[in-house]
Amino acid sequence: MQSVFHSSSISQLIEKASKKIDRLDAQLLLAHVLKQPRAFLIAHGDEKIGKIDIWKFEKLVQKRKREIPLAYLTGHKEFFGLDFFVNTHTLIPRPDTEVMIEQVLEQITQSPDRPITYIDIGTGSGCIPIAIAQTLTDKRKQLKIFATDISRKALRVAKKNAQKHTIDITYLHGNLLEPWVHRQQYNNRTIEQFELIITANLPYLTQTQFDEEPSIQHEPHAALVADNNGLALYEELLCQMKKIITNYQLPITVFLEIDPSQTATISKMITHIFPKATIHIQKDLSGKDRVVTIIL
Ligand SMILES: C[S@@+](CC[C@H](N)C(=O)[O-])C[C@H]1O[C@@H](n2cnc3c(N)ncnc32)[C@H](O)[C@@H]1O
Repeated sequence: MQSVFHSSSISQLIEKASKKIDRLDAQLLLAHVLKQPRAFLIAHGDEKIGKIDIWKFEKLVQKRKREIPLAYLTGHKEFFGLDFFVNTHTLIPRPDTEVMIEQVLEQITQSPDRPITYIDIGTGSGCIPIAIAQTLTDKRKQLKIFATDISRKALRVAKKNAQKHTIDITYLHGNLLEPWVHRQQYNNRTIEQFELIITANLPYLTQTQFDEEPSIQHEPHAALVADNNGLALYEELLCQMKKIITNYQLPITVFLEIDPSQTATISKMITHIFPKATIHIQKDLSGKDRVVTIIL
């Protein structure tokens, strides 16, 4: 079948594609195919492009029409002003998660000058610890960063992102905090001598929430959905933490991203597991509860 985009200029290609998909998406896809910034398309609107690039663009337009997220088609997503590699094994970083980054940065910059162990649980593309470390300048030296994920394929992407941003992160494969605890035990390290910060944006949607949201159907189910009204993994993480904090001398601060509907249930769960914990809820940019901070 003859391509509908056959022998067209850049502006004609965008025009035709805009009848099928969003114009901005069409521009971003063509810019991706041409390996040029979007501004190039505007400056070179009359330029004709090669058949292979037209064919590649056409394929991407078809995929975008089938609701495949733009980030999976280009392999990139911007988060906290930084560019991250993503693929279908990683969640696409969300602007809502940037609230957590700001909270953690505040915590680190205000804490005294002492070593901090920072662990990101369920790291996905690695966007959370990389954004934090990249933003910190002086204080970065204080941090020893670990990141865990149950998905080896996601960890591969996270490693690529850490290399791209030249951030030193030790990646550990396994269930929540377990691989880090095993590593500490294996290396015979005591864990009482540093401040501990934990971040987690774990799967927290219910199956019904997942089923009812068409925009997330192409993202990994295992990165989004959890049992027990979405709170099963957070409960398990809190129980794992309970085991390691006995006799712990320095502060432990935990940041968890939640669904706004979970505030009361998770607060009750935290108080049940850690009766003396201080709990703080931070809202996201649209004024909805998004990050739970637990000080132990
Ligand atoms: C909601 S995604 C978040 C990814 C990333 N932190 C972000 O904010 O974009 C959840 C991540 O948790 C991982 N995950 C799910 N269950 C896990 C478990 N039991 N232990 C460790 N990681 C898990 C998934 O593979 C996925 O990468």
